[in-house]
Amino acid sequence: MKFFVDTAQADDIRELNDYGLLDGVTTNPSLIAKSGRDFKAVVGEICEIVNGPVSAEVAALDFDGMLREAHTLAAIADNVVVKLPLTLDGLKACRRLDGDGIATNVTLCFSANQALLAAKAGATYISPFIGRLDDINVDGMTLINEMRAIYDNYDFPTQILAASIRNANHVKNAALAGADVATIPPGVIRSLANHVLTDQGLDQFTRDWRTTGQSI
Ligand code: E4P
Repeated sequence: MKFFVDTAQADDIRELNDYGLLDGVTTNPSLIAKSGRDFKAVVGEICEIVNGPVSAEVAALDFDGMLREAHTLAAIADNVVVKLPLTLDGLKACRRLDGDGIATNVTLCFSANQALLAAKAGATYISPFIGRLDDINVDGMTLINEMRAIYDNYDFPTQILAASIRNANHVKNAALAGADVATIPPGVIRSLANHVLTDQGLDQFTRDWRTTGQSI
């Protein structure tokens, strides 16, 4: 499973990229607003840090506006992926951009039928929002399982990008369900390395090593 980081904070992206753990980045309008910075400048900076795909979302809601914004965003760097909302206009724009050779990420997916439409529209990535489904007491992971089965039935190449990941269990379960990618907040990526027995074991090894008086 590929790991994308879900943030617009360049410092976090740089740090995680230096660990060699990053395959790409996703942003959304809320994350850009939180950064307080110019959208296109942030996307350009992120694209220089990371070699992999960087999702940048259109703001327009109509087909013509989405297409215009999509071309502006795609011109920022070769690794920009244009994020489009899962609406009929978004799907129409997705089909057109696929024809133009521009990679797309169809976002705000909450049902298997929406995912089927995105695959038929030629989406490069589809983003099911796991955490937001859990928030309304619907099991987000069931959606990933359904999408995996449908995409495999028809050999759709659209990649399932598990989004709205909130904790380590979401990451594990998305991997078990066969998601191609998970986009994960920086803190959750770091937390995946933690285990209390790792900490205890390391403390013990360090204490015992010191008693040897040796160095390597
Ligand atoms: C995905 O691309 C979105 O940016 C993101 O995962 C949304 O997560 P949230 O529901 O925690 O805001």
